[in-house]
Amino acid sequence: MKVLVVGSGGREHALAWKIAQSPLVSEVASAPGNPGMASLGPVFAVSPTDVAGQVALARRLKAGLVVVGPDAAVALGLADALIDAGIPVFAPTAAAGRVESSKSFTKALAARQGIPTAPFEVFTDEASAHAGLNAFTPPYVIKADGLAAGKGVVIATERAEAEMALGEMFGGRFGAAGARVVVEGFLEGEEVSLFALSDGDSVMAFGSAQDHKRAYEGDRGPNTGGMGSYAPAPSFSSDLEAEAMNRIVRPAIEGLAEEATPYRGVLYAGLMLTRSGPQLVEFNARFGDPETQVLMMRLESDIVPYLLACACGGLAELPPPRWRPQLVICVVLAARGYPEEPRTGGSITLPAAFEPGVTVFQAGTALDDGRLIASGGRVLNVCALGDSLIEARDKAHRAIDQIDFVDGVHRRDIGWRALASVATPR
Ligand code: AMP
Ligand code: GLY
Repeated sequence: MKVLVVGSGGREHALAWKIAQSPLVSEVASAPGNPGMASLGPVFAVSPTDVAGQVALARRLKAGLVVVGPDAAVALGLADALIDAGIPVFAPTAAAGRVESSKSFTKALAARQGIPTAPFEVFTDEASAHAGLNAFTPPYVIKADGLAAGKGVVIATERAEAEMALGEMFGGRFGAAGARVVVEGFLEGEEVSLFALSDGDSVMAFGSAQDHKRAYEGDRGPNTGGMGSYAPAPSFSSDLEAEAMNRIVRPAIEGLAEEATPYRGVLYAGLMLTRSGPQLVEFNARFGDPETQVLMMRLESDIVPYLLACACGGLAELPPPRWRPQLVICVVLAARGYPEEPRTGGSITLPAAFEPGVTVFQAGTALDDGRLIASGGRVLNVCALGDSLIEARDKAHRAIDQIDFVDGVHRRDIGWRALASVATPR
């Protein structure tokens, strides 16, 4: 079977890498892909948001499965178009994908289904939002309703800052995404990303990880797509996972099925582990990046039967996935200046080989006259498997030392929280 992977980031490279290992797969094509993905199979210059172009490509390739990476393609209805064309697709429809593309939709779903989440209020005009702040105490959490490339959330410690954020959102800073604003209570705790698969009917936990969203060491600086990740998360026990599946993920999938928008694909639950248990921060209608990189390194089972079951049904007949016992760390190498003004164009030289247990997934890379260069903010994902987190981290750092990347930067403290908890067991 031929599989088409839609996207070009580290997440998609990791998925393509894992899919390519399946005995069920004869070819892994990607669109648009990246030079790393090109080493696994053919790449085609079709944008993830070119819905008609992707459908035409999948038809031409006679793809037996299309795996969609990015949220923008989900929101534009790529899955709907592929379903109409009779092509199996691993991604939710645009209607089910509203769990990510509309925060107010998700909050309403959570309220209906009794899913633990921060108390909230939805506003459609600035004056009522200002007045509505009275019902909340600082820090204020203010979110543009729609997709805003990870920049639509403001956490304001002062009321004036909260009012300024409301002014910007209603003033059109995020376009239509900010015409509706969610104000919610602040949740305190550690964040975990939990992934669950569904074929619209049954649900299965599919791994968890933690990521580092801030640009600089010590979890400081601007928010990014993610500067690194690790799995498993020591603070997320199997009991907590079961609680999150039962109280958050299952009720959401059931609610969506009842509303005639069954969810098929991966549901990414962003959780806050609060003192009163896991609470929902947000849902995403796709895999996480860079969480997927560590999940794919740890996944022992063939992923393809799971992806196909989400697309075509039959998930309930599959056993839970098997995971390697090892721990994995992923360190993102970014272009200097990321996220504000990444300096692209820096040349990259990779060594002929890394030590066993190291895999580098590419993201913002391109070939310039046969030379590998940086072409985006997040450029490489250096992932290492170890018997301990310390071993994994040290291996990742040794691999980074083998890479010559002009104007590349990375955080040296990925996994610090987990490493600290290993050093001082609770
Ligand atoms: P979101 O796009 O909704 O995931 O928000 C982005 C980030 O803002 C999350 O990953 C959290 O770190 C933080 N955040 C969002 N909502 C809350 C909340 N209610 N309480 C505390 N932090 C939050
Ligand atoms: N790592 C966060 C995300 O994929 O949204």
